[in-house]
Amino acid sequence: MISTVTPGDFARSFGTTVDDFSDACRRLMEETNFRFRVLEGASRDAVVLQVLKKMDADRQKIGEEARTQAWFAGWAENLEAYRNSGHSREALVPRFIRDGQVIRLNGQYVQPENPRFELDYMTVFRTWLFGKYLAGCPSLHEFGCGTGLNLVLCADLFPAMELHGLDFVQSAVDLVHAIGVAEGRRLQGHLFDMRHPDRNVRLKPGSGVLTFGAIEQLAGDFEAFLDYLLDVRPAVCIHVEPTVEVYDEDILFDYLAARFHRQRGYTRGLLPRLELLESERRIRILKRKRLGFGSLMMEGYTCMVWQPV
Ligand SMILES: C[S@@+](CC[C@H](N)C(=O)[O-])C[C@H]1O[C@@H](n2cnc3c(N)ncnc32)[C@H](O)[C@@H]1O
Repeated sequence: MISTVTPGDFARSFGTTVDDFSDACRRLMEETNFRFRVLEGASRDAVVLQVLKKMDADRQKIGEEARTQAWFAGWAENLEAYRNSGHSREALVPRFIRDGQVIRLNGQYVQPENPRFELDYMTVFRTWLFGKYLAGCPSLHEFGCGTGLNLVLCADLFPAMELHGLDFVQSAVDLVHAIGVAEGRRLQGHLFDMRHPDRNVRLKPGSGVLTFGAIEQLAGDFEAFLDYLLDVRPAVCIHVEPTVEVYDEDILFDYLAARFHRQRGYTRGLLPRLELLESERRIRILKRKRLGFGSLMMEGYTCMVWQPV
C-alpha cells in the first residue's frame, strides 16, 4: 500500500503543530513527492538481512586518524565538482546521502518513490527548524559544516545573517569560502577542531550555533567543545545528531540501529550530558525530539536545542 507523509505527520515528527509551518515549509511539503511503501513480511526480512550483512562487513571506526583524510578527500571532491559545475548547489550534496535507499520512518522500513526522499525530508525539517530557532540571530556558526548545505539554506532564509562554517579539514573551509564568493553571500569558512576548540573564536551577542551530524564524529570526546560553547554563550544551540539513548532496544528495529551506532563508535552521551547541565541549571533545554526518521542503518536526526542560563 502506498502512503504519503502529510503535514500532520511532519508536525508529529518534528514535535510541533501544523499551524507552526511557514509558507515556505508548506510549499515544500506540497510540491515534493513524499509517497512511500511500507515494507512488510518477506520484504522486511530481506531488509533486516541486508542491514545485518552490512554491519558484518562494515569496518568504519569513527574518530580514527584515517577518517580525517577521508573527510578531507570527500569534501575536496565536492569542491572540485562545485567549481567544475559552475557553482551548482547540486555539487554540495554529500555522497553519504544515497539516492533511492530504503529508509526508516516511524518504526518501519519504507521504500520511497522519490529517490531524494531523505534529503527532501531533511530540507523540510531544516526549513522549519532554522525558521523556528534562528530567526533573529545576527550570525550563525555551524561547527563541522562539511559542504555548507545547512549554511546555504540559512543564507536563503536569512539573507542578512552573517554565516560562519567551521570544519577541521581545509577542503570544507575552502568549499564554504567558494560558495560565499560565488553567491555573493555573507559566508566565511574557518578551520576549527571541535576536539581542541580555539577559544579565540568568539560569537557576537545573540548568535546561533549549529551542529548537524558533527558531534557524532567526535566518538564521545565532546566535553571540551561543550565547555567552549558554555564559555562563548550563544543565544541558542541546535544539535541534530544520531542519539543512541532514544532507541528502545527491546524492539528489533531500534536494536539494529543502536548496534550499528555503537559498532561504528558514533558519539554517545550527549543528550544525558545536556540533561545533567539542565539539572545543574547551567542550560535550558528548549527541545529534544527523536524524528522517527533516518537512513537504512540508523536515525541521524535527533534534535536537541538549548541555551545557556
Ligand atoms: C557527517 S558530516 C556533516 C556535515 C554537515 N554538517 C552536514 O550536515 O552536511 C561531519 C562533518 O564533521 C566534520 N568533523 C569531524 N570531526 C571534526 C572535528 N574534530 N572538528 C570539526 N569538524 C569535524 C567533518 O569534516 C564533516 O564535515
